[in-house]
Amino acid sequence: MTKTLMILPGDGIGPEIMAEAEKVIFWMNEQCGLDLEIQRGLIGGQAYDAYGQPLADETLAQCRKADAILMGAVGGPKWDNVEYTLRPESGLLKLRKALDLFANLRPALVFDALVDASTLKPEIVRGLDILIVRELTGGVYFGQPRGIEDLGNGERRGVNTQVYTTSEIRRVGRVAFELARKRSGKVHSCEKANVMESGKLWREDITALHAEAYTDVQLEHMYADNCAMQLLRNPSQFDVIVTDNLFGDILSDEAAMLTGSLGMLPSASLGAPDAPGLYEPVHGSAPDIAGLGKANPLATILSFSMALRYSLERGDLADMLEKAVQKILNDGTRTADIAGDTHTPISTAQMGDAVIEALCAA
Ligand code: IPM
Ligand code: MG
Repeated sequence: MTKTLMILPGDGIGPEIMAEAEKVIFWMNEQCGLDLEIQRGLIGGQAYDAYGQPLADETLAQCRKADAILMGAVGGPKWDNVEYTLRPESGLLKLRKALDLFANLRPALVFDALVDASTLKPEIVRGLDILIVRELTGGVYFGQPRGIEDLGNGERRGVNTQVYTTSEIRRVGRVAFELARKRSGKVHSCEKANVMESGKLWREDITALHAEAYTDVQLEHMYADNCAMQLLRNPSQFDVIVTDNLFGDILSDEAAMLTGSLGMLPSASLGAPDAPGLYEPVHGSAPDIAGLGKANPLATILSFSMALRYSLERGDLADMLEKAVQKILNDGTRTADIAGDTHTPISTAQMGDAVIEALCAA
């Protein structure tokens, strides 16, 4: 049965990395009977320039109908002075919220061949395989009230609200426990229960959910600041980390950097079983290297692999694609971000071609 993939290249390096993912999609359509129909739309600054808003309703409607969405990146200095609600990032937030994509899966995986790319010692990061499950549609990103208020006395007041309900905490907790069952069976739940009521509730609700349904999984609570420190001190103590939207944003960047290769890391944002998943690289739009053919397309290609696994029911093709990526890394194929001093970097397009070659050879 034909499935639909909505492609949103976005800003900065988005279009060039997406072109390489599309090579993989075309190849799988032709060689593996994937039968994936591609639709394309604008998001972020591109959409703002074309429609005056970072995600047009029509594009959103198209996303809603797709089986999966693959996004590049949004944002850039060009839109720095655009009003807050129209900024490129708002388009992405609107998409996450409208499709209720509450669980953001961010793996931080150290590839054996790239162990030296990390700024941490190889013995600390070798074999590292952490999965951060970030709550994505609640917390301070969306809480009301919010805004900047003029106090009239030359002062202004900026307000955001951190807020979570039990059902929001439990549904993302469930995702983390279920995933931990398929991995090493360990979950760290991170908040600031020592200073925030929403954190106290988070801890109590996760504890209750665990006692009700997941006692076979090992649960540990950790303050988010301690988690940030422990990620650097002894990252291999972690398997699944579940945390809120803001802490998840920060901790997932930190975990990504442990791997030394932000350009390698994919993500999936999942909602209800019948909602399309949103797949995107963890890295941003990298405006400084946009258009130069230097960007690493592997995070986007691996995001497509997650789409094959979680939305398109083709785990077999995901395995094949991940093996191909592993192989080219073992062969020493590198874009600039992971080349280090010992390899000659190749271009974005050459990296895409190398993946296709490895797929053909498999
Ligand atoms: C991320 C990004 C986004 C976020 C931005 C682009 C809105 O940093 O996906 O981590 O803060 O969630
Ligand atoms: Mg972020």
